[in-house]
Amino acid sequence: MRSRGMLVTGLVVLLAVVLVLGGATRQALAGSPAQEEGNLVRGAMLYDRWYAVLGVDAPKGDHPLWATQSTNTRSGEDTWRCVTCHGWDYQGKDGANREGSSGYTGFPGVYAASERLSEEELFKVVSGGAGEAHDFSAYLDEASRRDLALFLKKGLVDDSQYIDPVSLKVIGGDAPHGKQLFDAQCARCHGEDGNLLPFRIGGSNVGLGELSTVDPWRFLAKTRFGTPGTDMVIGYDLGWQAQDGRDVLAYARSLAKSEVQAPSLGQDGQTGQPKAGPANNIFTGILTAFGAMATGLGFAVLLGGFLVGVIFLVVWVIRGRAK
Ligand code: HEC
Ligand code: HEC
Repeated sequence: MRSRGMLVTGLVVLLAVVLVLGGATRQALAGSPAQEEGNLVRGAMLYDRWYAVLGVDAPKGDHPLWATQSTNTRSGEDTWRCVTCHGWDYQGKDGANREGSSGYTGFPGVYAASERLSEEELFKVVSGGAGEAHDFSAYLDEASRRDLALFLKKGLVDDSQYIDPVSLKVIGGDAPHGKQLFDAQCARCHGEDGNLLPFRIGGSNVGLGELSTVDPWRFLAKTRFGTPGTDMVIGYDLGWQAQDGRDVLAYARSLAKSEVQAPSLGQDGQTGQPKAGPANNIFTGILTAFGAMATGLGFAVLLGGFLVGVIFLVVWVIRGRAK
C-alpha cells in the first residue's frame, strides 16, 4: 500500500513537471514575434512572390505598369512580384536598383511609404487606392493584402548603411559571431560551407556564399523571413536582431568559392529560386520537415505525448507486478 502511495505521488509530480514544461514551451512560442504580429512573415513572402504563396500561376504577360519603363528588360511573371519593382532593399530606384543597374526601373521604393503612410493607407495602395494599374485586389484576397500592409508597416529594415553600395561588402559585420549563428541554425540544411542546397543565379548553381556576395539584400530578406514554399528556420522567429542577420551575412560571404564580380548578376539574382517547392528531393524534404518540427509546436506535442506514454507504461508494468 505504501509503495503504491509513493508511486502515485511520484507520477503526479512527473505529470506536473511535464505540464509545466509543456506550458513553458508554449509560452515561449507564443512570445515569439511571429505569433504576436499575426501574418507579418506571410506578408514578407507575398512581397517576395505572392503567387507562389497562394499556390497559383502568375497572371499572363507583363504587369500593366511594366510598360511604363523600358530600362529593365525582364518580362513575364517576375514583373508581377512586388520585389521586382520595389527591391530587396525596399528602396526602389534609390537603392540597389538605382539607375545604371540591371534592376533599374525608375519605380519608387516602399521604405519611405512605410514611414509616411499608415497601415490602412498601405493596404489601400495595393487595393485600388493608388490607381487601377496598381490594384492587386483581383489577385490577392483581403487577408493577403492586409498581411502585405502589416509587413510594409512593421517588417521593413533599412540596411542601406550596412552594405557598401559599390563592393556590396557588409559594413560592421561580426563574422565570427555570424559563424556561431550559422553553424547552430543553418548549417544542418545548407551545409557548413553553404553549398548543400544550390540556388539558381544567372543560369548557374551557387551556394549561400555566392548568393550573399552577389545580392546581400536578398540574402538578408530571405534569412529574416524565409522563402515561399520552404519551411525554413528564420531569423524573425529566432528573435534575431538586424545586426545578427548582418553578422551571418558577413560570415556567409567568406564562404564564397571565389570573389564574384559584385552587381553584375543583380538582375538574375532576383529570379534564382526555382519554382518548385522545397521538397523537390527527398533529402531537402526530410530536412525541412525536421526543421519545422524542431521549431514548431509539433515538437512540444510530440515530447509531451512521449512522456505521457512512458508514464502509462510504468504504471502498467508496476500494476502487473502488484497483482
Ligand atoms: C510592375 C511594377 C510594380 C509592381 C509589381 C508593384 N508595384 Fe508598387 N508601385 C509601382 C509604381 C510604379 C508605384 C508608384 C505609383 C505612383 O507613383 O503612382 C508603386 C507604388 C507603391 C507604393 C507606394 C509608394 C509611395 O512612396 O507612395 C507601395 C507601398 C507599393 N507600391 C507596394 C507594392 C506592393 C506591396 C506590391 C506587391 C503586391 C507592389 N507594390 C507591386 C510599381 C509596382
Ligand atoms: C530545415 C532546413 C533549413 C534550415 C535550418 C535553413 N534553411 Fe535556408 N533554405 C532551406 C531550403 C529548403 C531553401 C530553399 C532552397 C531553394 O530555393 O531551392 C532555403 C533557402 C534559403 C535562402 C534563399 C536563397 C534564395 O533563393 O535567395 C537563404 C538566403 C537561406 N536559405 C538562408 C538560411 C539561413 C541564413 C539559415 C539559418 C538561419 C537557414 N537558411 C536555415 C532550408 C533550410
